[in-house]
Amino acid sequence: MIKAIAHPNIALAKYWGKRNEELNLPAVGSVSITLDALKTETEIQFIENEYDIIEFNGKLPAEDEQKKLSKFIDKFRQISGIDKKVELITNNNFPTSAGLASSASGFAALSKASSKLFGLEFSDRELSVLARQGSGSAARSLFGGFVEWHKGTLEDGSDSFAEQIADKSSLPLSIIIAVTSKESKKISSRIGMHNSSLTSPFYKAFVDTSPNDILEIKNAILEKDFMKLADFSMKSTVKMHAVMMTSNPPLFYWNHKTYEIIELVQDLYNNGENVFFTIDAGPQVKIVTTEGNAPQILNELKQINQIDEIYVCNLGNGAEIIEETH
Ligand code: PMV
Repeated sequence: MIKAIAHPNIALAKYWGKRNEELNLPAVGSVSITLDALKTETEIQFIENEYDIIEFNGKLPAEDEQKKLSKFIDKFRQISGIDKKVELITNNNFPTSAGLASSASGFAALSKASSKLFGLEFSDRELSVLARQGSGSAARSLFGGFVEWHKGTLEDGSDSFAEQIADKSSLPLSIIIAVTSKESKKISSRIGMHNSSLTSPFYKAFVDTSPNDILEIKNAILEKDFMKLADFSMKSTVKMHAVMMTSNPPLFYWNHKTYEIIELVQDLYNNGENVFFTIDAGPQVKIVTTEGNAPQILNELKQINQIDEIYVCNLGNGAEIIEETH
C-alpha cells in the first residue's frame, strides 16, 4: 500500500483555455503557489478484482468520475506493463469542486502514489506531464513554493511540464481563503474554458498578454517584490474573469460576498498594505499577504458577515509519499 499527500495550488498568473483538449495542453503558461494546510491524502494498492475499487471522501464517486480515475490509472498500467486493478481511497480535508483546486491536489497525489505502486522511476517533472493529463493545474501541485507550468509547444505535450521557480522560504506568504459558498460549481473549468476559447471576444487578449504577466510575476517573486506580485496577480485574475463573464453563455463564478471581499482587499491594497486577492473558477476569494500579516487581515475580514468558512495557509511542499507498506 502506498500513501501520498498533495496540496492544492493557486495560480497567480492564470491558466484558462487549452491548445489541445485531449492532452490538457494549455493555451498559456501559468505561475502558482502551493498551499500547506489544505490537503488530499491518497492510498492505493493492488487488488485481485475485475475492476478498480474507488472511494472518495468515504463514498463511492459518480460513475463518470470513477471512469475518469480508472482511465487515468490505465496510463500507469500501460507504461509499467502491470495489468492489475487497484483499490484507491482518497480524502480531502476541504470542499471538493468548489474552486479550491481539489482536482489539482487530487491528481498530483494520485500520480505520485501510482508511479510508486507501479514501480515507475519518474522525476517530478515527468510526473507533472502525467498529472497534467488528469487535471491541468495538477501539474503544478507536484512542487512546493512557487511553481511555473510551461505552456510548451510540442504536439505530444512532453514540454508542457511544471517546475519550481523558488522555494517557499524565498518570499514567505500567508493565504486566507474566504469560502463564500460550499456548493459545487455548476460549470466545470473544462467546459468553461472550452466555451471561453470559442466565444469570448477577450480571450485572445488574455492569451496575448499572458507571457508578460508570467514574466513580471516571476521577476516579482525572484526580486521578493510583494507589491509588484500583487499588482500583476490581480491583473491576471481580473482578466481571466473578464474572459469568463464575456463567454457565451456567460460564466459568473462570483457571488455578492466575493465582490464585497474584493472591495475590502482593494481598499487595503490601495492604502499600501501587503495584500492582494486572487479568485479561480468559483466564488471563493483567496487573500494573499506576507507571512505574519494574516491576523490583521482576519481582523479586517470580520467586517464581512456570513463568510461560510475561513482557511489560513502558508506556502507548502510538493506531493510526497508518506507511507509505504508491503
Ligand atoms: O486545471 P483545472 O481544470 O482545474 O483548471 C484550473 C483553472 C483555474 O483554476 C481557474 C486557473 C488556474 O490556473 O488554476
